Amino acid sequence: MLIARTVADLRRHLSTFQHPVFVPTMGNLHEGHLNLMRMAKPLGDVTVASIFVNRLQFLPHEDFASYPRTFDSDGEQLRALGCDVLFAPDESELYPEPQTFKVLPDPALANILEGEFRPGFFTGVCTVVLKLFHCVFNGQAGTAVFGQKDYQQQLVLKRMVAQLAMPIDIVTAATTRAADGLALSSRNGYLSADERAEAVHLSLALNALAASARAAQATGRMDVTAAENQAMDYLRARGWQPDYVTLRHQHDLSPVSSPDHEPMVVLGAAKLGRTRLIDNTEV
Ligand code: PAF
Repeated sequence: MLIARTVADLRRHLSTFQHPVFVPTMGNLHEGHLNLMRMAKPLGDVTVASIFVNRLQFLPHEDFASYPRTFDSDGEQLRALGCDVLFAPDESELYPEPQTFKVLPDPALANILEGEFRPGFFTGVCTVVLKLFHCVFNGQAGTAVFGQKDYQQQLVLKRMVAQLAMPIDIVTAATTRAADGLALSSRNGYLSADERAEAVHLSLALNALAASARAAQATGRMDVTAAENQAMDYLRARGWQPDYVTLRHQHDLSPVSSPDHEPMVVLGAAKLGRTRLIDNTEV
């Protein structure tokens, strides 16, 4: 596996390939990331992972400084999986000057849910992903793989590449879960032992709401707001501080007033102690 620290080095190494497949990450890799890489392997003629903790997508009070940086073990895991190129620029390479040109994603999709509770998050994500795509694909066609755990992120990025006419196919990989059902996330590492045992209740709350929505699909009769509040009350009673638990349409994340046969998704975000977790389940 080649480790490229500069854009020039990365492009030099990719110049002879036809169809790169790219897995962008912020490092601290877990089985979820490794599954993205496994999915990437057969989709092109060269696999590229990136590790870059992107300052632009963190709010001032968030965990940019303390975000776990585990470069050596990340590199070993990628090498063992047969990743061809690891792009690991430092900040001065990717942001040699303050990044004052930014991507402004569609507010209807990016200012709700995660974007409401983390203002500017999707501007930061889109800006770095656009830049990483330029570095890796250099205007050529390719494929990028993202995880379904970040449901809104993969949707925003699919819209971005479509609207900006980028010849990049975005593939979404199913969420990887621990044996108890907790969605794998680098931030799970912040949880105490007691919090870790409790953490699966976020996905249990989402699954219960998804089951109610599924049951109501035949009749269309469901008090969606009451069911969403019930899920949040369930979490509050167990010591969580939920930001949202909500039933949405899959294609644009608009609210569902009465379930029909349009594909839906339940999304949730909640804090357990100091750790904010997100998850989702499709209906
Ligand atoms: O999902 C992530 O890890 C990040 O948001 C991403 C896509 C690597 C951009 O920094």
